Amino acid sequence: MLFLSVYSTPKKNKKSIYKLIKLNAMRKSWLIVSFLFLGLIGYAQVNTLEINAEGSTQQISKNIYGQFAEHLGRCIYDGIWVGKDSKIPNINGYRKDLLEALQALHVPVLRWPGGCFADTYHWKNGVGPVADRPKIKNVFWGGTVENNEFGTHEFLNLCEMLGCDAYISANVGSGTVGEMVDWIEYMTSDDDVPMANWRRQNGREEPWTNVKFLGIGNESWGCGGDMTPEFYADKLRQFSVYAKMYGGTKFQRVGCGSNGPDYNWTSVLMEKGRGSMDALSLHYYTIATGKWEDKRSATGFGEDLYFGGLKQALKMDEIVTKSSQIMDEKDPQKRIGLFVDEWGIWTDVEPGTEPGHLFQQNTMRDALIASETMDIFNHHSDRVKMANIAQMVNVLQAMILTRGDKMVLTPTYHVFKMYAVHQDANLLKDKLTCEKYKFGEEEIPAISSSSSIDKNGKIHISLSNVNPNKEIQLAVKLNGKNIKKVNSATVLTAPAINSFNSFDKPNVIAPAEFKNYKKAGDNSLTVTLPAKSIVVLEVE
Ligand code: AHR
Repeated sequence: MLFLSVYSTPKKNKKSIYKLIKLNAMRKSWLIVSFLFLGLIGYAQVNTLEINAEGSTQQISKNIYGQFAEHLGRCIYDGIWVGKDSKIPNINGYRKDLLEALQALHVPVLRWPGGCFADTYHWKNGVGPVADRPKIKNVFWGGTVENNEFGTHEFLNLCEMLGCDAYISANVGSGTVGEMVDWIEYMTSDDDVPMANWRRQNGREEPWTNVKFLGIGNESWGCGGDMTPEFYADKLRQFSVYAKMYGGTKFQRVGCGSNGPDYNWTSVLMEKGRGSMDALSLHYYTIATGKWEDKRSATGFGEDLYFGGLKQALKMDEIVTKSSQIMDEKDPQKRIGLFVDEWGIWTDVEPGTEPGHLFQQNTMRDALIASETMDIFNHHSDRVKMANIAQMVNVLQAMILTRGDKMVLTPTYHVFKMYAVHQDANLLKDKLTCEKYKFGEEEIPAISSSSSIDKNGKIHISLSNVNPNKEIQLAVKLNGKNIKKVNSATVLTAPAINSFNSFDKPNVIAPAEFKNYKKAGDNSLTVTLPAKSIVVLEVE
């Protein structure tokens, strides 16, 4: 319009029209430039991680990286224990390959003997000459016959070999106070008393010094006795009196906590039982569909259940936040720790295996569920003082799978190894601003992260890009500290969302050196995270 009118206008007016055109063009290019600029700034702002590198005092307990081993399926037998006469290479009955893999993981604490099994377990059946130990039926897990070959000595010696603390789950559901105090005396007393003497007679002179945690029942709202919170709170008070008397200051007493978001259970326990416990547990399992009765395959899934799994796992944040708020009301000093002593993804069992043995594969999705969850625990480390993934070997979201003499390290194992750098380091507070990973009508943050500084001043930054469809560029800025250098960088990713390590192809998913980062100023880095990947950087 403007151009047409120039030709039909008297000469003296033409100048001003040309001026107008020039002005308009300038305005347009300014607009374009501004849009581009704002777009770029906008892009940079979408994915930024600002880490406060100064003055951190909140320690991430190493026990957040704890494990759980139950007499369930092939976790203990075949997984950990093959017996001294086995053809499978072993050290005093423990699988040698497994011991080495677990030692590399720096397991801080191991919970045993259950789980639901714990409230049916009578420890006296599992000590003394193996030939004399009675067999029992594992009523919760497939009705399998348990020969009690792996008992208290075998468990506590394993903890010594791994250099980890022991978390014993005492039988409240079908056991007695007397049985529990006898067990405590057997494990920890150095006196001339019947149980300590029986231990000596069974070949162990000194008491074990690694018994640091005693669970007073497991899932007492369900398999551990189907109790109301009020009834359980009374049980806790009763058992706790004697646990304290016999255990002294040697261990922490753990009250049975809620089934995920059962906040009434948490409130009642904090109201009536807080004087009788040093920690309160919490169990939350991820089911990709969100429905307990519809678990689905561990490996045969598409993006819907990949997204679903990650989304359901993020609920841990809400559950821990609300539980902490309830605990804060009665325990503002945070004396009582929150122990998430069972967590992980629960899928259908592998085809052809016993349903009661909970043997499932482990994919890239599960590695991301682990990294997301451990970022949540790191951020809540003011209250979350322990977490135990379920379970260590051959059960649910396992670190390790075994078959005969073969062993596979799962993607979850690799995440635990990469995240071990956060054990006992101080949390660095951070602010993550990031784009969303959208699937259908739903969305979750595309990035998960947490950072800490260890006692040597090294900073570890964990980053996960959960979007399986695109790489993401992230600007990482350390406030209050210049980055001298990046000491190491490791990435875990996979060909597909449901890739896994099998006995035939054990290294489909394995950590590799990560190079896709560059310095972007004195205290900043630009990191390009591959789709569906986990990266851990060490900077100083
Ligand atoms: O980890 C498997 C089972 O899950 C445990 O035995 C029980 O505590 C929970 O329900």
